[in-house]
Amino acid sequence: MQQDIDRILISSRRIADRVGELAAELAREYAPPGREQSCDLTIVAILSGSLIFLADLIRRLPMRMRIALVTVSSYPGASTESRGARLFEQITADVAGRDVLIVDDILDTGGTLRAVRAELARRQPRSIRTCVLLRKPAKAPPDVPADFVGFDIDNYFVVGYGLDYDGLYRNLPDIAVLRPELYTSGPGGGRA
Ligand code: IMP
Ligand code: MG
Repeated sequence: MQQDIDRILISSRRIADRVGELAAELAREYAPPGREQSCDLTIVAILSGSLIFLADLIRRLPMRMRIALVTVSSYPGASTESRGARLFEQITADVAGRDVLIVDDILDTGGTLRAVRAELARRQPRSIRTCVLLRKPAKAPPDVPADFVGFDIDNYFVVGYGLDYDGLYRNLPDIAVLRPELYTSGPGGGRA
């Protein structure tokens, strides 16, 4: 697997530091000191990409919370171009009157967050905010803002720390760019 990597964009060390900072920001927002117990937060995590980010982030948050998982896919198979988000399972969490934080690995075209946000908004939560580990600013659309962002990256297709290419490389500890010849999705693949 290591020989497929062209270069490491963000090391596991930098990720861990930034996840700690994000957790501190979230704790200040949702559970100011002394009010951790009154927090009524539901984290809605988008699978599969946010799997590792979610696991690391929530263990650094001090407050009570519920966790709901939703499976969304926008990159079928060996593709580096988003094809529009599809919710695979309806969200069943009861979020009415609660604070909701959507957690995803990366904000690219915004299709995924837009779809999940719309679905949740219909259930009248108290608030909806979004937290992403990565954001590609070149494409991020203004109507789907990310409230908490780990890193802004250039328009590379990245893998590792939960992010995949054709289902592979999620278990890489770093965030990396693959060797260009490995992207086989045709025109656009490898440059995305
Ligand atoms: P969007 O719907 O276009 O914003 O895409 C968001 C989803 O596409 C993310 O949750 C990822 O699963 C996937 N995605 C976007 N960019 C990348 C990338 O560079 N590497 C791996 N997956 C990506
Ligand atoms: Mg995803």
